[in-house]
Amino acid sequence: AAPSTLAERVIAWQRTHGRHALPWQNTRDPYRVWLSEIMLQQTQVATVLGYYERFLARFPDVAALAAAPLDEVLALWSGLGYYSRARNLHRCAQAVMSEHGGRFPDNSATLATLPGIGKSTAAAIAAFCFGERAAILDGNVKRVLTRALGFDRDLSQASAERELWAKAQALLPAAGIEAYTQGLMDLGAGVCTQRRPTCLLCPLQHGCVAHAQGDPARYPVKTRR
Ligand code: ADE
Ligand code: SF4
Repeated sequence: AAPSTLAERVIAWQRTHGRHALPWQNTRDPYRVWLSEIMLQQTQVATVLGYYERFLARFPDVAALAAAPLDEVLALWSGLGYYSRARNLHRCAQAVMSEHGGRFPDNSATLATLPGIGKSTAAAIAAFCFGERAAILDGNVKRVLTRALGFDRDLSQASAERELWAKAQALLPAAGIEAYTQGLMDLGAGVCTQRRPTCLLCPLQHGCVAHAQGDPARYPVKTRR
């Protein structure tokens, strides 16, 4: 049958049009997935690729990263920007060693207690590595969901942010959380873009409130940053 729910359409689109061969895909190693998610928080895929390979070559696992001097971590991060990410990365690796016996926690709630791992990053790691049904809501995904749903509350308000999280949670598929999570990310990065989304190629076009209204760029609504 043709996919009908939002989640089913995202999953079907991901299988045929999404990205499948990025170096942090096709692994369930939380160290590799975590490293990629931190690098990708504020940096585009094309830039991350080279840094990711160099980082893994020098620090193949969390123990190696935790044992390294911070200066060396910062040197390998040089050029990626947002250096607090690198400091938290190092602190997180040390916390995994000292507080979790050298293994990343296997659920989003515990992952989110670690340095530099926010709620959305914790959910992405848990979904990709452990198949946990957890909602992600980074900038790209906020754009996709607010547009598809026509969610026009001001996300500067904590209550609006909470409501959107609840909607994101309610939209999760019963199965296929990995493809769904990656599909939302890929749609946000490549189709439902900030200024001129490519609605013609979007699996959510039918039923998308923002598309019907004719002005997707007004979403997400955020009066303060
Ligand atoms: N941005 C954040 N996470 C990503 C991922 N897993 N793949 C591609 N882009 C991303
Ligand atoms: Fe975004 Fe257009 Fe798809 Fe709606 S139809 S989710 S605005 S790309």
